[in-house]
Amino acid sequence: TPRTARDCDVVVIGAGPAGLMAARTLTRHGLSVTVLEARDRVGGRTWNGLVQGADGREHFIEIGGQWISPDQTRLTALVEELGLPTFQRYREGASVYLSPDGTRHVYDGEMPVSETTQAEMDRLIAELDALAAEVGATAPWDHPRAAELDAVPFRTWLTSLSEDQEAIDNVSIYVASGMLTKPSTTFSLLQAVLMAASAGSFSNLVDEDFILDARVEGGMQSVSRAMAAELGEDVVLGQPVRTLHWAEPDAATADALNEVAADVRDGVPQDGGPGDVLAVTEDYEVRARYAVLAVPPNLYSRISYVPPLPRRQMVAHQHLSMGLVIKVHAVYETPFWREEGLSGTCFGGGRLVQELYDNTNRGANDAGGEPGVEDTCGTMVGFVSDVHAERIWELPAERRREEILEAMAEYLGPRAKEPVAFFLSDMAAEEWTRGAYATSYDLGGLSRWGHLQNRPVGPIHFACSDIAAEGYQHVDGAVRMGEAAALAIVDQERRG
Ligand code: FDA
Repeated sequence: TPRTARDCDVVVIGAGPAGLMAARTLTRHGLSVTVLEARDRVGGRTWNGLVQGADGREHFIEIGGQWISPDQTRLTALVEELGLPTFQRYREGASVYLSPDGTRHVYDGEMPVSETTQAEMDRLIAELDALAAEVGATAPWDHPRAAELDAVPFRTWLTSLSEDQEAIDNVSIYVASGMLTKPSTTFSLLQAVLMAASAGSFSNLVDEDFILDARVEGGMQSVSRAMAAELGEDVVLGQPVRTLHWAEPDAATADALNEVAADVRDGVPQDGGPGDVLAVTEDYEVRARYAVLAVPPNLYSRISYVPPLPRRQMVAHQHLSMGLVIKVHAVYETPFWREEGLSGTCFGGGRLVQELYDNTNRGANDAGGEPGVEDTCGTMVGFVSDVHAERIWELPAERRREEILEAMAEYLGPRAKEPVAFFLSDMAAEEWTRGAYATSYDLGGLSRWGHLQNRPVGPIHFACSDIAAEGYQHVDGAVRMGEAAALAIVDQERRG
């Protein structure tokens, strides 16, 4: 059967928060859009899920991104505009810390480490705060020391400054297993500094009450669902873009493109001017004057470009890869830890489950519920990162569950071993994501290719949380990038 042809001003590839925000912004400026999404749902790495419980109920979980921190102002404003209520993570009571020898400490305030370890942690955090303030998040590749900071693995840098293993593990977790979800030996100090700067400071990353502050009632995917509802039939699901023709190969069109472009390199206009774009899926052919590529950078190469992208993009795109983390969901009859005066917040640098938080739902969601009312069941969320995740995926499902619940019980006691529902987010097995939480450069990549990541190629603009400055690797960054790509196109149209 022939493909359905559509014509519009801008074709948006990917209906995650970045793509949908781009489409929303474009339509508000009077441009027509078609959003092509590979999956049969919108939201990308944000995903409201239901898990069947042993109690006969379906329980609501957030399989992907969920938390908003106070610095994430663009997302916060959008959530408000869409009329979605938010609520704060439960945080009353004491936290639990497992020290490297497995000793369990219940504490309020500062982590119960020795005075010398605390002093070492404070020193390392201060060093990182200073670097983050100096380098910033907008263009870390432009810093005079970029290449130098990008040549040192984060772990090597930490061990060059301190001999305190516990301090190093505890500081490393905030960027390595906790954020980029890669071992701290595999990415650079510059990449770590970008992560810190994008959240305002390294101290913000360390402060779980800041970084894991608020959630959307009904789940973060509701943000994408609400934007998609506004766009209606302009969002087409189940249509992976396989081929993107992005400029007529004839000389006249190329010359015309080059004429409107302020900056031409390799014969390819670099300012995102209009062109002739054709996005091809199994059932659709969408012709437009611009494309917004709103997919994670590790998936750029799943699309065939005609003509191929310029050489430097083809090189750069090979150096961005997804991290790996398993988000663990365990639902209990009640939030039993609260009865014991615990907040549910637990840390153990280097352990199988390195962090745990109370993730009890509030409000109306896909499993039911009332606005503003907390669920009676208690939900725990935990994280198994990088090399631990690799190992645990190799185990049979029953063994995997046992090991994880055992690790959670070390923090919360034996009741943790009896959830009514249990689920592991497996974004690495999702064809249209292939990891979690996000992509980052390999050692040295950020300083070599970072400057290219947000530059349009001809009529193709890029938008994703993984190439954001503020809100980097977060939904806020996705929203910012989607809006920025759309406004760049709107600007081109005004000028053209
Ligand atoms: P995203 O990946 O969300 O969307 C891209 C879309 O493009 C997808 O829908 C995909 O199917 C589609 N696509 C890909 N290739 C295509 C093709 N060829 N054709 C058509 N469509 C294609 N963030 C946060 O702020 N707070 C948090 O708590 C967390 N926690 C978290 C946990 C887990 C487990 C994950 C996986 C992620 C998070 N995140 C997070 C990160 C957050 O979810 C992420 O930054 C945003 O969803 C990124 O939005 P984008 O739109 O940039 O990409």
